Amino acid sequence: MERTLIAVKSDGVQRGLIGEIIKRFEHRGFKLIGLKMVKPTEDLAKHHYIDLKDKPFYAGLCKFTSAGPFVAMCWEGQNIVKMGRDMMGETNPADSKPGTIRGDLCVQVGRNIIHGSDSLETAKKEVALWFKPEELIEWKSCAEVYTY
Ligand code: TYD
Repeated sequence: MERTLIAVKSDGVQRGLIGEIIKRFEHRGFKLIGLKMVKPTEDLAKHHYIDLKDKPFYAGLCKFTSAGPFVAMCWEGQNIVKMGRDMMGETNPADSKPGTIRGDLCVQVGRNIIHGSDSLETAKKEVALWFKPEELIEWKSCAEVYTY
């Protein structure tokens, strides 16, 4: 089953949107298997965004990210990587359609409230960067569990 890293960035936390973002993924039918609030070190933030190291906004982005809090989540489900990205909308909220998380809830590219892995390969790396294996919890829904 596919897994991805979804995170509520600090602007999303400050705006009280943790529950709204979790709700959208739960209601869609995905399974939350890892969850923690972190104040990332600057090194962790830099590592997380390493692919953007040559961009002019990289330093500011890492500083903003390391100020925290960052709510890191691992979600599991069929096609979760692509569907999670579709649910988020575009990087720039101005290009995001209504109905998407960024299209409904934010305005500025530098304050776009949510992170989501952009490919299966990135998802594997990002889940491993933010979670130890023992922090990911396998569980079954009550519909799947019939006996003690
Ligand atoms: P990126 O990985 O390109 O987008 P996404 O978050 O959709 O995967 O960029 C990472 C973050 O960098 C993005 O969420 C917000 C920030 N950013 C800026 O501040 N300015 C920009 O021009 C871009 C492209 C991104």
